[in-house]
Amino acid sequence: MDINAKKVVGEKAVEFVKDGMIVGLGTGSTVYWTILKLGELVKNGLSIRGVATSLSTEELAIKMGIPLVTLEEVDEIDLTIDGADEVNANLELIKGGGGALLREKIVSANSRKNIIIADHTKYVSVLGDFPLPIEVVPFGWKLVYKQILKLGCRPSLRMDNNLPFLTDNGNYILDCQFKKIKEPKELAIYINMIPGVVDNGLFVGMTDIVLLGFDDGGIETL
Ligand code: 5RP
Repeated sequence: MDINAKKVVGEKAVEFVKDGMIVGLGTGSTVYWTILKLGELVKNGLSIRGVATSLSTEELAIKMGIPLVTLEEVDEIDLTIDGADEVNANLELIKGGGGALLREKIVSANSRKNIIIADHTKYVSVLGDFPLPIEVVPFGWKLVYKQILKLGCRPSLRMDNNLPFLTDNGNYILDCQFKKIKEPKELAIYINMIPGVVDNGLFVGMTDIVLLGFDDGGIETL
């Protein structure tokens, strides 16, 4: 896949941003292009405030001169732009490939509008080929692993340089290969009922618009 598909859709998303908005800034290599473009617009006079969904996004936004606020300083976010690892025709998503699913979900849940941007390869008929990231607290994680195993997937502890990958919240991630997730809402509820699970990467009923980018510069709206 050509980098153009991510760039084209990432830059397109800024058209939804209006002066004065509080904007949720997602995480990943697609939203990277949105943040770069927003930085340019801010330099040219656009007045927005961003809410970052990860430390890496916070760093990039600061570098691009986008003023940031915390969730404690706002009542609501006007619009959030974020990426996805998989998206289906019902606008249900798997997210968390970059490990930022918890903050992304909190920001999304507190946004009046959510736009997802992704290259066309992320579109699937059934979610589940991409391993579902589940954020778990380190305490007792192996027992949580065994509980998740019973749900019919193959979890693996995400690693980083031979150590467990740590999220921005100090938690672990279990990447769970389900293959086919026929009922995402039900699965998300079951997973989150396991003590030790912080949240999972299924985003159901949260997305308003999906923009899919193609390598030839085309964009499809779902
Ligand atoms: C990070 C995410 C990202 O939005 C997702 O992984 C997509 O990333 P990219 O735009 O780099 O393909 O959920 O936790």
